[in-house]
This record gives sequence, structure tokens and C-alpha cells, in this order.
Amino acid sequence: MRSTVITGIGSLVTNDPSIGDGPLGLLNDAALVIADGRIAWVGPAASAPDADTRFDAGARAVIPGFVDSHSHLVFAGDRTAEFNARMSGAAYTAGGIRTTVAATRAATDAELDANVARYVAEALRQGTTILECKSGYGLTVEDEARALRIAGRHTDETTYLGAHVVSPDYADDPAAYVDLVTGPMLDACAQHARWVDVFCERGAFDGDQARAVLTAGAKRGLTPRIHANQLTEGPGVQLAVELGAASADHCTHLSDADVAALASASGTTVATLLPGAEFSTRAAYPDARRLLDAGATVALSTDCNPGSSFTTSVPFCIAVAVREMGMTPDEALWSATAGGAAALRRTDVGRVMVGARADLALLDAPSHVHLAYRPGVPLVAAVWRGGELVVGAGAGGGGTA
Ligand code: NIG
Ligand code: FE
Repeated sequence: MRSTVITGIGSLVTNDPSIGDGPLGLLNDAALVIADGRIAWVGPAASAPDADTRFDAGARAVIPGFVDSHSHLVFAGDRTAEFNARMSGAAYTAGGIRTTVAATRAATDAELDANVARYVAEALRQGTTILECKSGYGLTVEDEARALRIAGRHTDETTYLGAHVVSPDYADDPAAYVDLVTGPMLDACAQHARWVDVFCERGAFDGDQARAVLTAGAKRGLTPRIHANQLTEGPGVQLAVELGAASADHCTHLSDADVAALASASGTTVATLLPGAEFSTRAAYPDARRLLDAGATVALSTDCNPGSSFTTSVPFCIAVAVREMGMTPDEALWSATAGGAAALRRTDVGRVMVGARADLALLDAPSHVHLAYRPGVPLVAAVWRGGELVVGAGAGGGGTA
């Protein structure tokens, strides 16, 4: 395979403190070499080795590709009317999920596949090179397995979320639905998923039900992650830490004990913040500063779904996190790259270091700080995924995350 040297990098975020300044491992006037889809060399532009192809970054910034560790892309239809009602004062509830369940069940495989492809490509154009994707809008054995099969064509990071909300078919018997999710549905889905998730919330699943779902999944080799403390304080975060979940997601309503638990579990359970959800439900944002100051590991992701957060844009989430959640631009960038990788327990992505996957975004800006400083501006000029230029002049495009 041909090698490429990217040189003339004005500012390179490596997330490797051993090769650059601060936690972001920043290098100015840098270069890197890609070979066999991996980073083969990183250092000062002045000492860059030769390669088959040369790409001049023109003194602009290069960052690791974003790792979006939380999305729900296998769905049909949209919820424009619900969003409109919310912006006129209606509250968000878990029940809206059922609208998308009906539309998703009615869709063909080809329609769902095209939707996932469309949103993965949209995310890629905004710098996302790894994207986790959940089921959760099927809620039957066949529809959940179908969602995961389709998700698996686009990403390896697939999550079984049969416990998104109690299926409308089991409205009178939630316990029987939990039995289905932990029994026959899990049997059909486990082979297609890496992770198991549950929406632990009023109107969805309580702590005991969430524990049953996650422990059943873990017995089948799926690693737990959890929608926790999104709309109300609840048992989700404590359960995540107790079970050694990879991530507790949302973390909007936290007690001091929840924050302490996430801090003590910082090497195991990441606190994943999803500001698109608070933006689109007109809710108060999670307090990232409180979590960071306590010592928790924080990730930042989109939660892209048609109900609570219909955005694939990590740059948008970074801008909101900096403006509204007490994060510095450096912290937000770290959380959207290395933090997302930690939430997916990956060490091969989210960093620019020798041996890592060559997943990179070139920004039309001198520094990553512009992602927050210039909100809403499409700053991603080029993207490499697995060493291949997939966005920008000369790119082939398409493919999987
Ligand atoms: O993460 N909270 C649960 N699931 C999604 C919302 C899904 C929906 O409203 O369709 C979330 O915000
Ligand atoms: Fe979600």
C-alpha cells in the first residue's frame, strides 16, 4: 500500500501528551505519515520522512477523527410535529419513541439501510470516523435483530437496545416485555451486537428492570452501557458504576453521590454527555465542569435520533459544550475524540500516534479552538478514515464507520 505524508500542519492534536503540549499533545508545524491505514510517523514538519504521496495541510489544523459513541440511526420517519410542539412549550417524554417504532416497523430493509448510510455519510462529512449505532425502534424479536443487522453493515460498534421503551404490544405487561428482551430477543440479537443498553428512566425502565437487561446481556458477552439520569435523577448512574458499564450516557441530573461514583470509576465507566438532547428538548444542560473537576472521564457525542437530538454534528456538540456546559475548547475536543474512544473501550482510535488507525480531520482553521469559536460553520475540509481520503478534494467517499 502507498504511503502518504501530510505536512504543513499548523496545529496537530494528537491526544498523546508524550509527544506534544498538554493533554491534547499539541504539536505546531507538524507532519505525519500514513501507511497501511495506520499512523506510521508523527513529528515536526522539518524532519518528516518522504512518502509516495504528499498532502500539504496549508498551516491548518489536523485533529483525530471524532468518535461518536452514542447514536440511534436505524429509524424511519421523523418527529417534526413533536419538535414543533416542544418549541411551543410541550415537554419531552420517553413515550415519543413509540411514534418512531411504528414508522420503523413499517419501513423496508432497503429504506432503513439507506437512512443509516445517509446519516453515517453526513456525520463523516463533519469529521466523524467512528460511530456507535443502537437498535431500539423495532421492539420485536425480528425488528430488533433486523435493526442490528442493518447497523452492522455500517459500523462494528452496534448496541442492542431492545429496552428502549416498553413495546406498545406489551403496554399492559412490562414484566413480560423485560422477559422478552432478556430472553428470545437477546437470543436473536446477541450475535449482531457488541454492546447492551437500556433506557433507565421514568416512563421507560426502572433500576431493577435495567439491571436485569444489562446483566442478561453481559452473560451473553455484550458489554453494558446505559441511558442514565437524562430526564430525572435515578438509579442509572449508580447501576452503571456497579456493573462496570463502559459508559453512563446523558448524566444530566446527577446527585453528589452520582458524581463521586463516576469520578471513582473514571478508568472504567465514562460519563457521556449528549448536549444535542438538551438543545432539542429545551432542557438544562448537564454540568460538565462538575464532572471534570471531580475527576470523571467525560465523552461528548451526538445521540443522533429523530426524537430528542436530530443532529449528526459533533462540531455542534463541541460548540454547545463549550458555551453552555463549562468545558474548555481543549476539553471538549478531547471528549469528542479520545473520550468517545474510551467510552467504546478503543485504544486504536481517537489519538494520532504511531500504530493508531489513520482517522483524521483537516479543519479549515488554524486551530481546533475554532470548532467552538466559529459555531455552525462547516470547518471540516478533509477526512481520512483508515488512511483513505474519504472527504475533501480527491476523495472517493462512502463506506462504513
Ligand atoms: O437518547 N433517551 C432515550 N433515547 C433517545 C431518545 C429517543 C427518542 O426520543 O426517539 C435519547 O435521547
Ligand atoms: Fe440515546
